[in-house]
Amino acid sequence: APGRAAALAQLVRDVPDYPQPGVMFRDITGLLADGPAFADLVGAFAAAQEPGAVDLVVGMEARGFLLGAPLAVALGVGFVPLRKAGKLPAPTERVAYDLEYGTAELEVRTGSIPAGARVVVVDDVLATGGTAAAAVELVERCGAQVVDVQFLLELDALGGRARLAGRPLTSLWAVPA
Ligand code: PRP
Ligand code: MG
Repeated sequence: APGRAAALAQLVRDVPDYPQPGVMFRDITGLLADGPAFADLVGAFAAAQEPGAVDLVVGMEARGFLLGAPLAVALGVGFVPLRKAGKLPAPTERVAYDLEYGTAELEVRTGSIPAGARVVVVDDVLATGGTAAAAVELVERCGAQVVDVQFLLELDALGGRARLAGRPLTSLWAVPA
């Protein structure tokens, strides 16, 4: 319901000029620390998926872990972490990407996402879409199917939705930038 999303949105703190000038940081720690709100959030994510239509949840380090792992439990499926480079033992698959601030690489353990799996990719914020596009690339490289890319918050002006061209995308709410 829109009311529920609005209540959750109020718990996300906007921090201007962090971690760099010109960047608005979206701090979700207040939402996570509020038990009923966190449960509501996970429930809203789970309700967006067709029962039985998801085989696996994938989340991107770090904030995607915080939302993706409880979603996997709520859906009764497994969770696979996409880690920042250098955190997983070989063999791995790796994709480099640009961030709103800086560059990074995401890795997945080879074989941890089965070919043909129906996968939901989860993260907190869609900004430029670089992180999500890298995650989608890793999932698809494994031969799995991205059935949804789910976010708490979508920043409209940064082009993330276009970057994910054609993939299903769900966000609980969107803001202009
Ligand atoms: C933030 C956020 C998203 C990403 C969105 O992660 O959690 O993952 O940026 O930006 P994009 O759409 O432009 O890629 P960040 O890498 O800053 O760090 P964290 O999740 O490890 O805190
Ligand atoms: Mg992140």
